Amino acid sequence: MSALELPPIPARALPVSAEAPGKCIVFGEHAVVHGAPELLFALDLSVQVIVRPSGAVSLNTDREGTERNPYFRSALARSWSDGPPVAVRAVSRIPKSAGLGSSAAFVAALSAALSAARGGIDRPALAQRAFETERGAQGVGSPGDTSAVVGGGFLSINGGSGEVLWTVRGPDREWEVRRVPDPGWLWVVAHSGIPRSTGTAVRAVGERLARSDGPRLLEEFTRVARDGIRAVEQGDRPRVAELIGRNQELLREVGVSHPRLEALISAAAPAAEAAKLTGAGAGGSIVALPVPGKEVELVRRLARAGGLPFVVRPSATGVRLIEP
Ligand code: MEV
Repeated sequence: MSALELPPIPARALPVSAEAPGKCIVFGEHAVVHGAPELLFALDLSVQVIVRPSGAVSLNTDREGTERNPYFRSALARSWSDGPPVAVRAVSRIPKSAGLGSSAAFVAALSAALSAARGGIDRPALAQRAFETERGAQGVGSPGDTSAVVGGGFLSINGGSGEVLWTVRGPDREWEVRRVPDPGWLWVVAHSGIPRSTGTAVRAVGERLARSDGPRLLEEFTRVARDGIRAVEQGDRPRVAELIGRNQELLREVGVSHPRLEALISAAAPAAEAAKLTGAGAGGSIVALPVPGKEVELVRRLARAGGLPFVVRPSATGVRLIEP
């Protein structure tokens, strides 16, 4: 599918409601911030927002919303500058601070709704705006999360052989975003219950990669993600599983695993072909590729080990407007 076939967000008068999926990173988190490839998909768990005209700005009735929520503040600054006050309600089925893209989904849904009220926006422009909005709130970041929730399906960043959907421009680098065909597999994610901060984890990995063996580690992250993208494109499940294991070893080496994540990965082993942390790590979630037919057993094992597991499929649709 080309970017031109991804429908733009049309113009709509307030009230406007929008829905955006979360995301799950299969290969390349953290390294992508430094220009390496990444593979991720939009999750079939979503955030919905509704934006209404109002006498005062609020988020879920909180009039201090802009002070308390940097994502809300950043979205209003970039998509609603000088706009009249709006009341925003947000409802999320994506666990927060879990590495599953709740902030990217909130940013994309809100930016889409506000942009609709400002005359509409096409997907490449929305992907750029959502990236800048999330980065503005976190201070760090790469475009994978926001592009996945804007584009839907499977996407690769800086790798893969598909058509380029769009290029996202950051202050010191650009990332090419491509479509990857969905191999049609079920995945299981499990939240450890340990909240984490993306910004803190990203800065810690940046410091780790600045050490003398940093270039070697980044090269290895690059190789694993590049080969992983190719293996997904070819539907080569055993190779994908092997590379997921290798990616986890690298993430452990740069210090973003956590004893709870390692416990979940061990608990998953008898019913999973592979498992690794997904997202920023240091808490958050794991993603596992179930042994076909053992999905329910995998969910039981992860729940028994104290995780909050979900069987997930990629959501083919990215952010979209819905009826308020
Ligand atoms: C967070 O979901 C993924 C990271 O790679 C940060 C980013 O890409 O913005 C850790």
